[in-house]
Amino acid sequence: MADTKKVEIKPAKGRPMLQWVGKKPLRDVIAYPAQLVETFAPALTPALSRGERGNLWKDWPDKFPQGGLLFHGDNKDVLAYLLANGFRGKVKLIYIDPPFDSGADYIRKVSLRGKGNQTSLKGEGYDLGEQIQYTDIWANDNYLQFMYERLLLLKELLSDDGTIWVHCDWRKSQHLRCLLDEVFSPDSFRAHVIWRTMTSSGYKGKKSLGRSHADLLYYSKSEKFVYNPTYLEMTPEMRARYSHADPDGRLFKDSYLGDVSPETVEDLRKSNLLYVTSTGGFRIKHYLDEADGTLADDIWTDIDPENSQSALLTDYPTQKPEALLRRIVEITSNQGDIVLDCFIGSGTTAAVAQKLGRRWIGADINKGAIQTTSKRLQGIIEEQLKSAKGKAKALPGMEGEETPAPAQFSFAVYRVNDYDMQIQHNEAMNLACEHLGITRTKTDAFFDGALGKKLVKIVQFNHPITPLDLEEVKRELGNRPQEERDVVVVGYGKELAVGAWLEDWNRNRKRTGLPNQIDVKDLRVDAKSGGFFVHKPAEANIKFKRAGDKVSIEIADFLSPTVIERLKSQAGILTPQIKDWRSMVDSVMIDSNYDGKVFNITLADVPEKKNDLVVGKYEVEAKKGSTIAVKITDMLGEEVFVVKEV
Ligand SMILES: C[S@@+](CC[C@H](N)C(=O)[O-])C[C@H]1O[C@@H](n2cnc3c(N)ncnc32)[C@H](O)[C@@H]1O
Repeated sequence: MADTKKVEIKPAKGRPMLQWVGKKPLRDVIAYPAQLVETFAPALTPALSRGERGNLWKDWPDKFPQGGLLFHGDNKDVLAYLLANGFRGKVKLIYIDPPFDSGADYIRKVSLRGKGNQTSLKGEGYDLGEQIQYTDIWANDNYLQFMYERLLLLKELLSDDGTIWVHCDWRKSQHLRCLLDEVFSPDSFRAHVIWRTMTSSGYKGKKSLGRSHADLLYYSKSEKFVYNPTYLEMTPEMRARYSHADPDGRLFKDSYLGDVSPETVEDLRKSNLLYVTSTGGFRIKHYLDEADGTLADDIWTDIDPENSQSALLTDYPTQKPEALLRRIVEITSNQGDIVLDCFIGSGTTAAVAQKLGRRWIGADINKGAIQTTSKRLQGIIEEQLKSAKGKAKALPGMEGEETPAPAQFSFAVYRVNDYDMQIQHNEAMNLACEHLGITRTKTDAFFDGALGKKLVKIVQFNHPITPLDLEEVKRELGNRPQEERDVVVVGYGKELAVGAWLEDWNRNRKRTGLPNQIDVKDLRVDAKSGGFFVHKPAEANIKFKRAGDKVSIEIADFLSPTVIERLKSQAGILTPQIKDWRSMVDSVMIDSNYDGKVFNITLADVPEKKNDLVVGKYEVEAKKGSTIAVKITDMLGEEVFVVKEV
């Protein structure tokens, strides 16, 4: 394919080695091109002189804007793209918090905006139910291969003095540690940090211990690596150890002095550091008012999860606390360094990097994650700009502290391969399963669920079912000679040739006494499945009016069939009536001079609180003949894009 590049990957160090079914080395990957889809660039970094700026960004590949980079796509593609485009060996710190093989669907709770004014149920905001953000379902060995490939790619991006932190828990920590040993070598192991998560899965009567920690596996690429010792505030217990007092009340604790010369003893006595015990022994004093705190080690008990009242909380599941990322970023990077997180989720790593004056790169396969991160970073940058010039005022989570000058006041969003389709597929698939009464299977790498006694395969809704899709089912059945069940293939539309294929297959199976009859359910025409909603795009009615250099933009109406459909399935027999279109809208962004390719955010209306609504009326400056683009994002993350020449 045009524009693709092959990227070579160095083999893993190789010892010790974990084996799994289907283990494959990753010698090279294909890097696809990326499209710049959005920028947020209200300012360059005024805190820096041009020289300083040049210095800070001198290792940055020219083709990218100097600012944060956020990639929407599978991180295998994203990492390959970064390697092919100038980032090899440039990243100082990698933090990843990958799916944990937990067998759970992670969901983001979605609800309408505003309070009480939007629906027919009095005072009760409709809950749009739970939107699946990403699915953490793996046939066991796929998970290992998945992580192995990402780790091999990440290692190539890491600078020689760089470090990587892998956030995991009891489910996969032992395997990931082996993988990291294999990819980086056991000599590169720096620490296995236990983060006490403050929540425990224990309860009275449980027949085993509760689980209350996460694991952070920390490796460096070489023996030389960035390490900034960090001192923590003392706990009351540690403080209590300073139990002796000088006559003036100054508190100290004492420790073993060892064999020292009489001169040393005299020196210590003169500087008031000698402690003489009741039996006449010599010990050394440590004063509380001189203690820097306690040196951080590999057990962290002082970091709480973001609580439900936190200003930093997004609606994203599995969000990690900023305090945790802050510790990691401070220990293993310096201002201006590049920090990468390719499972960015709600954007915690990018948020912390932005607040601590680091440059950052983030990626996620889930559009909801990209939107959440983008919103979060816009908020932080705006705050930083308000209080500029250079020094950011107290941001939530950093009150009472001097924060470093930001490395950037901008970021750009790219798309690598097109994952929107995949997201829509997930969404539609869930609706289809509900509709047909299919039970989803979480452990099967090929089949999506079961319908009664039959296996179910769902074909991507972006194309009608073709004989090729059926061939895939056939191949899979060939690999499972013990499988006795019949199969239902579900899709949206089907090609004519499908009928003949099925007839042939079913006849042959019957004739030879083999099981696995295949049936197709076409959601588009099936009488029983009639009315199945697959995907109707949202629509907006926007009025543009010019007055001199200014253009007023008024959103007169907005309708999101997906949101309405969700409400219907939530509300049961009650038909929801949305009184104000704005309750369906999460955010409005405007580009006042759209070039037809990249959306440059010139105006963003993102109400901070859930109960606030977007304004809906805006005014921008725009030269005659320029093009205005308006992007409206609904509460389920779907976007409507309206473009108008004014
Ligand atoms: C545990 S969450 C990360 C949460 C994040 N640390 C935070 O504080 O919000 C894992 C993320 O990995 C993303 N993800 C899973 N598979 C991915 C892939 N192949 N490429 C990119 N992102 C992926 C998921 O969409 C999810 O957002």
